[in-house]
Amino acid sequence: MSEQNPSAIYLKDYKVPEFLIDKTELTFDLDETQTIVTSRLHLRRNPESNSATAPLVLDGGEDVKLIGVAIDTYELPKEEYSLVNDKLIITATPNEFILTCETLIEPQNNTKLEGLYRSSSMFCTQCEAEGFRHITYYLDRPDVMSVFTTTIIGDESKYPVMLSNGNEIERGKTEEGKTFVTWNDPFPKPAYLFALVAGDLNVINDTFVTMSGREVALQIYTEPHNIDKVDFAMDSLKRSMKWDEEVYGREYDLDIFMIVAVDDFNMGAMENKGLNIFNSSCLLASPKTTTDDAYLRVEAVVAHEYFHNWSGNRVTCRDWFQLSLKEGFTVFRDQSFSADTHSSVVKRVEDVSFLKTAQFAEDAGPMAHPIRPASFIEISNFYTLTIYEKGSEVVRMIHTLLGEEGFRKGSDLYFERHDGQAVTCDDFVAAMEDANDVDLSQFKRWYSQAGTPRVTVTDEYDEASKTYRLHMSQMTPPTPGQPTKLSLHIPVKVGLVSANNEPLSFVYEGNTHDETVLHLKDAEQTFVFENVTEQPVPSLLREFSAPVKLNYDYSTEQLLQLMSGDADGFNRWSASQQLAVNELNQLIVQYQAGQTLSEETQLLKGFATLLSDKTLDPAMVALILALPSQAYMSELAEEIDPHGIKAARKHLRELIAKGLEQEFKVAYETNTTDGPYEATAEQIAKRSLKNAALAYWVAAGSDEAASVAVRQYRNADNMTDQFAALSIIVNFDLPEADELLNAFYEQWKHEALVVIKWLMLSAAREQENGLANVKSLMEHPNFDIKNPNKLRAVIGGLGQNTQAFHNLDGSGYAFLADQIILMNKRNPQIASRLCTPLTRWQRMEPELSGLMKAQLERIAGEDLSKDVYEVVSKSLA
Ligand code: PHE
Ligand code: ZN
Repeated sequence: MSEQNPSAIYLKDYKVPEFLIDKTELTFDLDETQTIVTSRLHLRRNPESNSATAPLVLDGGEDVKLIGVAIDTYELPKEEYSLVNDKLIITATPNEFILTCETLIEPQNNTKLEGLYRSSSMFCTQCEAEGFRHITYYLDRPDVMSVFTTTIIGDESKYPVMLSNGNEIERGKTEEGKTFVTWNDPFPKPAYLFALVAGDLNVINDTFVTMSGREVALQIYTEPHNIDKVDFAMDSLKRSMKWDEEVYGREYDLDIFMIVAVDDFNMGAMENKGLNIFNSSCLLASPKTTTDDAYLRVEAVVAHEYFHNWSGNRVTCRDWFQLSLKEGFTVFRDQSFSADTHSSVVKRVEDVSFLKTAQFAEDAGPMAHPIRPASFIEISNFYTLTIYEKGSEVVRMIHTLLGEEGFRKGSDLYFERHDGQAVTCDDFVAAMEDANDVDLSQFKRWYSQAGTPRVTVTDEYDEASKTYRLHMSQMTPPTPGQPTKLSLHIPVKVGLVSANNEPLSFVYEGNTHDETVLHLKDAEQTFVFENVTEQPVPSLLREFSAPVKLNYDYSTEQLLQLMSGDADGFNRWSASQQLAVNELNQLIVQYQAGQTLSEETQLLKGFATLLSDKTLDPAMVALILALPSQAYMSELAEEIDPHGIKAARKHLRELIAKGLEQEFKVAYETNTTDGPYEATAEQIAKRSLKNAALAYWVAAGSDEAASVAVRQYRNADNMTDQFAALSIIVNFDLPEADELLNAFYEQWKHEALVVIKWLMLSAAREQENGLANVKSLMEHPNFDIKNPNKLRAVIGGLGQNTQAFHNLDGSGYAFLADQIILMNKRNPQIASRLCTPLTRWQRMEPELSGLMKAQLERIAGEDLSKDVYEVVSKSLA
């Protein structure tokens, strides 16, 4: 690391800004290599500041060259301002004035993809969190909200489309014959929501009539070759707009809403006011090139970014420590939208499974932080699963505590009270409390405490008095910087199940229920249920009512029973997972002891019942059939043995496949879809079960299944079926694997998003020379290290390739470290994210642990960006 290590900033040090910017007028004279930005900032001292003389300190970047600066009409000579650590400091200013600033930036050389940059033939921007300072000097903080007017000057032949936030108010020619377009956004906003796009783009147009009868123009822009792939996004947008009106009473405000797809993007998408910019992977969809999963992702991300218009833009964050205020809430909103649109149980299982796999791992590692962190070195590192997914779970718990109506009252008050403001998580909770007259003070600890709480449950039944008791205790393990933890307010939704699989009603606190929410608030607490007619099986934490690790010592019989009979669909899945986890753990122990692996599995019985039950949603059946993933088993392990987990999963999968070969064949054959491809819940469900069944059927070693897979690959008319078949052929190393992997590339080499899938599948392929293959992919003519999607595909694929990545000679880890070092300067945000697998080193088995740590130390020896420095130094601390 370097001489001066970057330092942390703290929430407790928050101070209001010294100046406010009422209006921001920007002019961009666009040029690939040298773009000139002129800004006119209408500044005045903040009446809320304690100082009447504080200097003006504007944020900038090492890549911004200052040409000139003036206060009103007075051009400042060099002595009257200074540039220190990328900040422009002016000591003496009037109380109210216009600051004019001219800067030069080089979009072509911007490889970090923040600020103004080039993606294929277009210009685009990314300003969240602190990207605007790479465009011009500014008060780049979310509590400075300003009305933006933006003029873009460009060569019309290259950039016929030039967009910014708000409404187009003027257009014409400059003296040099270039075109200019002026945009005005009447809603005050922080600079992170600024956007600009210019390019030779095509557009599809639509309209939406809001609940008050206003007509809004909807436009989606892409490069010409992709314009045939945005109909689904447009449809998703209109459904999102309607949903937000119906469920939250939120209406869109501007007269126009635009979305643009770009190929090179660090994240998924961005909610810039009136001009969302999307990674093309989260916007484009067509049956032939896009899988069902990707369709659902497009729908969810379109909804997410649209919902930010209220939860994020109209009401924004006071500072970046409050990031979960907008992200947790907006994820909760997009999850609810998808649940309402498709199957709510299926959606819940998918979201929880992701949370328990990835967020729980983050919360148990060196980067663990509360959903409202107390400090950070680089804010880009805090766009995390904790802020987003756990943040959403915290909002969901508030929803559970207040109920649908109470929650709506709270959100109405929140939007009404804080419209046009930059606020805090405390303000959000206060609105929920005030609207419902409840006290959430203990609950608020969820905002400041990191780590996944453990909830341990034991029970006893008294036949004579028909009384059933649940004893619960909670404990949150220490996390970095938080050695001791307080008790949380944990909502635990429970129901009771009888021996013959019926819901058992009970009396709790004087009322009869089939299901209730228990409030676990103390370290230990006992809940008493009366009128319980028989010894029940408890169905605990229904719908995953809190983001905790639940411990109850279920017997195999109880799990089998819940799996087939619980009234809560989510817990049926949960029980099946627990059963599979138990069996996998036994197999891992046997593998590590060098014993032969057990040939028995209780899952056969459960899965057989499942496959024969025609009343079940095929998507649910597919989810239950999916064995706990390699990543989930790693998260659960005391000491991660990737090779042991892989062997156990393979063994168990084969046992199930052989035991139910005939059933899988039938499931495959009966779950075909008729008619043309549609991304509807019904079709998606059938395809998911059909392809899950095919994978098991092939795993049974059946020649017939293998030829069916090849036939499906060749005959498929949609990417879901084609790619599912190809994955099976490659993962089971069928003789056709090489040939079809090549054919697939040849067929789709002009579709960037399909090439990404091909890169990922190829990199993940377990074979003798796995790492050499990964290296050759990065030399492939269609690979492009500047494109984050392609880099992530190859590195992500490698991460799934146990043999190549967790190689005992350390070569997999060394290769990853090489890429991190390479990207550290080029694109620090991406480099920092690539570090994630190495941050788990302390949980790995000793040999692999040492190898990982050595690579982290090697990275630490480099001159690091703030982003990589923070992750690596915290991992080694
Ligand atoms: N705010 C974006 C979202 O969640 C994510 C994002 C963050 C995109 C930072 C780009 C940069 O919707
Ligand atoms: Zn978001």
